Amino acid sequence: MYTEQQTRDLQSKTAVFLQNLPSLPSTEVEALRDVLRFHEYRYYVLDAPLLADFEYDQLYKALEAIEKTNPELIRPDSPTQRVANSLNGAFPTVNHLVPMLSLDNSYNAEDLIDWDRRVREGAKTSTIEYCVEPKFDGASISLIYENDLLVRGATRGDGIQGDDITTNIRQIRSVPLSARFSEYGITQIEIRGEVLLTKKHFKAFNDKLAEQNLPPLANPRNAASGSLRIKDPEEVRRRNLEAFLYHVSYHVDQANQTPAALEKHSSSLDLLWELGFRSPAKEKQVFTGIEDVIQYCLDFEAGRDDLPYEIDGMVIKVNSLDLQDELGMTTHHPRWAIAYKFKARQATSKLRGVDFQVGRTGAITPVAKIDPVPIGGVTVGSISLFNEDVIKEKDLMIGDTVLVERAGDVIPYIVKSLAELRNGEEQPILFPSACPRCSSTLAREEGEAVWRCINIDCPAQVVERIIHFVSKDAMDIRSFGEANVRKFYELGWLSDIPGIYRLPYEKMRQLGGFGEKSITNLQTNIEKSKTQPLHRLIFAMGIRYVGETTAKTLAQSISHLNDLSRMSLEELQSLEDVGVKVANSIYLFFRNQANIELIKELEALGLTMQTEKKTPMTDGLLSGQSFLFTGTLNRLKRTEAEEMVEARGGKLLSGVSSKLNYLVVGDDAGSKLEKAKKIPQIQILTEEDFIKMMGGE
Ligand code: IVH
Repeated sequence: MYTEQQTRDLQSKTAVFLQNLPSLPSTEVEALRDVLRFHEYRYYVLDAPLLADFEYDQLYKALEAIEKTNPELIRPDSPTQRVANSLNGAFPTVNHLVPMLSLDNSYNAEDLIDWDRRVREGAKTSTIEYCVEPKFDGASISLIYENDLLVRGATRGDGIQGDDITTNIRQIRSVPLSARFSEYGITQIEIRGEVLLTKKHFKAFNDKLAEQNLPPLANPRNAASGSLRIKDPEEVRRRNLEAFLYHVSYHVDQANQTPAALEKHSSSLDLLWELGFRSPAKEKQVFTGIEDVIQYCLDFEAGRDDLPYEIDGMVIKVNSLDLQDELGMTTHHPRWAIAYKFKARQATSKLRGVDFQVGRTGAITPVAKIDPVPIGGVTVGSISLFNEDVIKEKDLMIGDTVLVERAGDVIPYIVKSLAELRNGEEQPILFPSACPRCSSTLAREEGEAVWRCINIDCPAQVVERIIHFVSKDAMDIRSFGEANVRKFYELGWLSDIPGIYRLPYEKMRQLGGFGEKSITNLQTNIEKSKTQPLHRLIFAMGIRYVGETTAKTLAQSISHLNDLSRMSLEELQSLEDVGVKVANSIYLFFRNQANIELIKELEALGLTMQTEKKTPMTDGLLSGQSFLFTGTLNRLKRTEAEEMVEARGGKLLSGVSSKLNYLVVGDDAGSKLEKAKKIPQIQILTEEDFIKMMGGE
């Protein structure tokens, strides 16, 4: 897309602009747009940014300012023009220029060998070039560019007609608003692709939902197709969707002359890449024998978990467009392409019953018990149904055959019940009307999907609160664990959080069943937890909607835990990522006498209530340095290692890019290591190197 020379020029232009901020002359408007487009491309398509986010924002603001004072200079493909107002009403229906067909499926080598034979018979040649590329698991879209401008984006719909979602498509920053098709004589072009959410963004999105006790989105594919239909483009933008474009379905050329790049599928992917699209140009490979095709599919399948996005198979396409035309299509699918589907991460099973679990906030979670089935390498027997609405929406009944999915590292979920297989013996699922543990009343707050047990002393809630307190992400009291919490509770040794610090060790010794060594271990670990940093204690207290991230934000804004009890709603809301709901919850927590007593008691027991006096970032040993860990560490826990970096003023990154300074590599490191090796400025460290760097042995 950009030559080295262009990259250098754009970089120096960037430097000049940055030096002349805050305002830039309006004569530079087009140059400034070029610079911003270049950095968007580096960030969103190449995942190799050359600019800090903050600097990008400053340049973007400078462009906004010029366009505000000179509205006549605004162009539809200006980086500022992605933003749009909310939509009202339905998305208009539009016709596709060419029907969006589906693909025929294959599941094994024999299927592919068969297909290859049919293709060779149809084409009457013995050697055929095939292009093999990933099959992206997202929502399909079609884009139309006219005279280099993006004029329409649509969903697949029924293949003939789809929804016009242009406004939302413009929020996807890897989709160029304009592309130099005219340089290839192309005046109009329709491109097909798939919109998806990377695993990382999907997880971040679900973590946010979980912090609010909302059910997570089922999988990245549903998340992507749902996101495209949101009526609020700002929200679509926040979801960080990606678009992979893999097929040119229609084009109009000057003098009816097809450009050479569009004569082969593989070169059309290269052309799309060259014009700034995130096409699978780098992932695709061209082969002449089906055996090599099969091997490539198997290799890709083996590495599927290391990819940053979900794929559900590979697509094999006849590379010559002429030959594609000759082979033609059936009413459902082209004869020149086939999908090779990876092993299913779905299975069917019987729904035998539903347990109702009481969480630490009293939330009643229905959990489906199914006949255990292996899916994608794990046996699944229990599946959360999140809340009553989910049971109703999916029309689930005990005795139903259900379709279960487990995508990548996503938790398993029930896709649907197969109602057509019912025999009349199925029973409805009765949601309890009282707490299954303490029989107290259940309440459902307005706007919430969960029912909660209102008894704060409900034994189930008490136990869950203690389990949460000692858990790995909270106070991390090792060798305590869920089983011990339950056992000590049953024995009457532990009935609240402060009780953790007053366990009757003598009785434990008398009872037997606990080795002396494990008792000492437990005692030491409990003692050690008193010095855990404040943010862990805040998270451990289980304030509703306060996840680890919010806990960190809170800890950073106070010097003693009691400070939180003095903060007003407005002060709380002014903190990063703290909205009305979260602020209210924190506010109420610190107005509850029982919680104030708990804090007093924990302070008296010697728990750390103050924030560590952190060395300011700039003075830190690692200030300005960024780290990423990959693979399994042997001597350190991942969280410990990360805390070491943060304590020294270093920054943690979540992906490999040219912003990264150090990649610390544990055992079985995968794609991150491979990627880092290609970026010369990244230093690769072993765990030992890292420990030495931190001043350890
Ligand atoms: S080609 C006319 N290539 O999979 C041929 N499709 O199960 C157009 N898909 O409807 C399709 N990755 O939405 C093609 N690399 C890829 C793909 C891909 C994902 C989707 C597409 C298609 C569906 C069929």
